[in-house]
Amino acid sequence: MNTEVTIAGVTFKNPVMTASGTFGSGMEYSDFVDLNRLGAVVTKGVANVPWPGNPVPRVTEVYGGMLNAIGLQNPGVEVFVERDLAFLADYDTKVIVNVCGKSVEDYLEVVERLSDEKVDMLEINVSCPNVKEGAIAFGQNKDALYDITSKIKAKAKQPIIMKLSPNVTSISEMAKAAEAAGADAISLINTITGMKIDIYKRQFALANKTGGMSGPAIKPVAVRMVYEASHAVNIPVIGMGGIQNAVDAIEFIMAGATAVAVGAMNFHDPYTTVKVVEGIEEYMTKYGVEEINDIRGIV
Ligand SMILES: Cc1cc2nc3c(=O)[nH]c(=O)nc-3n(C[C@H](O)[C@H](O)[C@H](O)COP(=O)(O)O)c2cc1C
Repeated sequence: MNTEVTIAGVTFKNPVMTASGTFGSGMEYSDFVDLNRLGAVVTKGVANVPWPGNPVPRVTEVYGGMLNAIGLQNPGVEVFVERDLAFLADYDTKVIVNVCGKSVEDYLEVVERLSDEKVDMLEINVSCPNVKEGAIAFGQNKDALYDITSKIKAKAKQPIIMKLSPNVTSISEMAKAAEAAGADAISLINTITGMKIDIYKRQFALANKTGGMSGPAIKPVAVRMVYEASHAVNIPVIGMGGIQNAVDAIEFIMAGATAVAVGAMNFHDPYTTVKVVEGIEEYMTKYGVEEINDIRGIV
């Protein structure tokens, strides 16, 4: 049985990754999860300078998942390199760094700072719905997406994954724009913009008013978008959105994803990623699947 997958020349021992922002850089989880079992750790978004994030409350539960409006709080790339990358260097897993910024220059600064560090791939977040400048502004307009992708590709030493927003009319058009601009892969979906109102406080549940919806309830939307995007482009697709178990992960792979990421479910059960790895192996044994790649896009 072979669970290896390759994306832009980088080989992952299995297709299971952590979704950015739901696993830190693995430090908090490493007491529970053997990080060596994961295909990759995808870190929380990192910017050129520290960001404080949004005012609280910035997470709230909803039926089938959660809303968050963290606002990309992060310590900045310098602390990240010294602390988080140093920590991850001890593990036998691939490292994908999620990058955020308010301007193209911000993104380029992070990408250049990471160019000689032990980072396997960069995931460029152009799809966070919770910050006022940058981020999603690049991910909702195909010309802006093309522009930022080509500029980052020209500077990046590592292969780049463009993380796409579901908050668009045509995911296929956005996927094609990223591919045309030189992206090595795409990942989707980021969270879907939502809102919750506390009727007793007569107030929004989140200080930011809106937040990004994640968790099991968004999975059918995510599977549909991964299917559409993977049929629109020839570059690999990393699928995510509501994955709870191996059945969900295999669904994404059959829709066309080369790899998958587990997000909000890490909060519910910190062992989810490893359970997904084991569940995929069990499925392959039981149903005689020799190569994980043999079931990719099979529907
Ligand atoms: C609390 C929280 C923080 C997140 N932070 C980031 C982030 O920094 N960068 C990013 O690209 N996506 C971020 N995401 C989006 C997830 O990586 C993922 O795309 C999304 O939650 C859908 O997957 P899920 O339903 O499995 O959580 C965040 C999601 C949550 C719930």
